[in-house]
Amino acid sequence: MIKEIKDNHLYWDGCDTTELAENYGTPLYVVSQTAIENECRALQEEFIKKYENVHVAYASKAFNHLAMLKIIEKEGLGIDVVSGGELYTAICAQFPAERIEFNGNNKSDDELEQAIEYDVGRIIVDGSQELDRIIEICRTKEKKANILFRITPEVDVKTHQFISTGQKDSKFGLPLDEKLLLPILQQAIESSEINFYGIHFHIGSQLFDNTTHLKAAKVALQLALMIKEKFNYEIKELNYGGGFGVRYTKNDKRQSYAYFLDPLMQLTEDFCLKNGLNRPAIAIEPGRSIVAEAGISLHTIGSIKTLPGIRKYAAIDGGMTDNIRPGLYQATYTGMLANKAAQPLEETVTISGKACESTDILIKNIQLPAVTSGDIFATFSTGAYGYAMANNYNKIAIPAVVLVNKGQAELIVKRQSYAQMIQNERIPDSLK
Ligand code: LLP
Repeated sequence: MIKEIKDNHLYWDGCDTTELAENYGTPLYVVSQTAIENECRALQEEFIKKYENVHVAYASKAFNHLAMLKIIEKEGLGIDVVSGGELYTAICAQFPAERIEFNGNNKSDDELEQAIEYDVGRIIVDGSQELDRIIEICRTKEKKANILFRITPEVDVKTHQFISTGQKDSKFGLPLDEKLLLPILQQAIESSEINFYGIHFHIGSQLFDNTTHLKAAKVALQLALMIKEKFNYEIKELNYGGGFGVRYTKNDKRQSYAYFLDPLMQLTEDFCLKNGLNRPAIAIEPGRSIVAEAGISLHTIGSIKTLPGIRKYAAIDGGMTDNIRPGLYQATYTGMLANKAAQPLEETVTISGKACESTDILIKNIQLPAVTSGDIFATFSTGAYGYAMANNYNKIAIPAVVLVNKGQAELIVKRQSYAQMIQNERIPDSLK
């Protein structure tokens, strides 16, 4: 059990969260190593060990951190990176190059050079100009890159529009237009500087229904068939992206990996058999589902305000600077008072952040025991896109991160200092 209630306190992976708040200060991200390992093992059982020729690349944007990458490596998964910074972190974590996949819709020459120099396992190409640049860099460096093309499968998913990516009008991927696709496919097949591995899609995030992945997979498989018919070339790999939804509140009905992957594998096998294709390797790229539920955030309640007949606000010592998701996507969360974990729920409170922004409301109308200043509020499921999207708005410092594992706690990110926040700022001579 990752979450336990003992002596009126919330415990997370064996650690008393009120002690963590005391020892490391708040706001604090607390991440359970056990929970992350459990997710990786579920992927092993439900996908990697179950099917031949498949692999998983953790979408590290969800929580890209040296220690996280070490856990992922030990659990035998690969990673997906989307920027020079994420790749740099992977290199510093000595992540095996062949298990790194490089995504992104606007990779710079520097980033491509860095990736090709490090011999990353795959580059997911997002446009024809990018292909030209990769070929050029490979020629100069006398290297050979393995590439897949990200396509836009033209499916609409049921999620917040800001995290939907597979629809026709999208900045991501190559559009399904033969006039555009055929020349670039031909170029990839004929080029001696690259190995053309296959096709990639990612349709969106926080999905609970497997039908859109299936629709998109059909599109990708049709494309694989078209490539065989037109060019007599069989692709080696299909990447079906990530997007598997997690529990933020009890309204989110999380599905197993098997719920998504079994029908996808069946569809793929059937299609290949029927159309005389060798079944390509199948890759997936989950981010959120591996790390979201492993993480919680701890904040201290400060100012409490009651607006008679309207609502009661309790403000925390962080907010949209450490969790921008409610403000950005109207994302919903749940939480509890970590120091009053066994007490009866007595009042309805709105948890607000401290940023000067009206959208900085973490949770509207949550039932809590009687709240007082100094209470520790724990928000659940903040492991993905929490620390990863933390920012310095209002010059609020990025919180510390603690990794907990069966009762042991270790600081893995130090709290940012004010000095660090201004270390790159300069006063021009004219103002001195
Ligand atoms: N692969 C690609 C190419 C992606 O763009 C993404 C997410 C993933 C995989 C992983 O998706 P996941 O399994 O985590 O759903 N900041 C937003 C989420 C943006 C996701 C962007 N791409 C949020 O906090 O909801």
